[in-house]
Amino acid sequence: MQFTDLKAQFEAYERGIRAQMEEVIQSTRFILGPKGEELERQLAAFTGAKYAFGCSSGTDALLMALMAVGIRPGDEVITTPFTFVATAEAVSLLGATPVFVDIDPSTYNIDPGRIPAAVTSRTRAVIAVSLFGQCAAMEEIAAACGGRDIFILEDACQSLGASRNGTMSGSFPKVGVTSFFPSKPLGCYGDGGMAFTSDGEVADRIRCLRNHGQRERYRHRMVGINGRLDEIQAAVLLGKLPHFRRELAIRKEIGRRYSENLGDVVTVPETAQGNTHVYAQYSIRTPRRDELARHLKSVGIPTAIHYPLPLHLQEAFRDLGYSEGELPEATSVSREILSLPMSAFLSGPDQDAVIRHFRNFFGK
Ligand SMILES: Cc1ncc(COP(=O)(O)O)c(C=O)c1O
Repeated sequence: MQFTDLKAQFEAYERGIRAQMEEVIQSTRFILGPKGEELERQLAAFTGAKYAFGCSSGTDALLMALMAVGIRPGDEVITTPFTFVATAEAVSLLGATPVFVDIDPSTYNIDPGRIPAAVTSRTRAVIAVSLFGQCAAMEEIAAACGGRDIFILEDACQSLGASRNGTMSGSFPKVGVTSFFPSKPLGCYGDGGMAFTSDGEVADRIRCLRNHGQRERYRHRMVGINGRLDEIQAAVLLGKLPHFRRELAIRKEIGRRYSENLGDVVTVPETAQGNTHVYAQYSIRTPRRDELARHLKSVGIPTAIHYPLPLHLQEAFRDLGYSEGELPEATSVSREILSLPMSAFLSGPDQDAVIRHFRNFFGK
């Protein structure tokens, strides 16, 4: 059994993916061409954002989003400690300071109620991470920043296709970014990402930043990066995109089945009011996590831990001065969380096997 079955997905969509890639190879336009533009058009329409920019990765999209809203050394950026490292890395790379705020243990997303206490005169932005496939509490986060000049960014690297109160993940103001890392719900065959915004000025800056700060060739308006999505990756994504909505529906159904069958033995994911969940990860919580993972591995069921150590306790952020007892919700979740196999190609028998072995472990 595969944790994410990319082979079965390729076999199902092979013709479409190969045809898209072949067109790129024949055209010899590998960087900034029609495939990327088409993908940007389709995903802007899908999310409802006015502008979409294909980027070299989710990490680079985050970095450019922060650059586009003007984050600089000395600024503070509030975010969650329970996320992939890239969220806070982008802040630190710009010389700004990540300020970690504990999570709501029911959704694993940042707890908006704790944000006001973390706001200082240097706070310039909040990065809300829509972890595991459901949106952070975007309106509450905006309200918690109440009337101040604080940009809100959504790290939607795990939540493309999710929505909150009818708004699609990625399209909340000011900027949203996603990742096309191969194992994401919409993944390419290498690194890739996208930045979304409906703000014309921010869009203009991201367009420039991702192409070495140039609008016209060899005229550099600002210091940018090589942050472009390449045409081969855009082609792979165009080959998969027609199937994306159906895949999301299947993921949702697998999530429902897991929850229905595992909810009496472990803590299953809760979908917050107004949210839809795309289960980029289907993650349960149990104090017997390590034992359970070993048992599942022994019967051929792969699992993964997202994430074993929250960011405030990582060596890379030691200089920020956090200590063990701080941010207790994130710390305790990181000791108990376990992600189960999930993809639209997880067969019925494989789902049954996960449920059966899981329940066996708990003597049910
Ligand atoms: C929450 C989160 N943020 C950022 C990233 C970075 O994306 P990428 O791997 O495309 O750089 C990821 C993906 O791994 C992620 O899950």
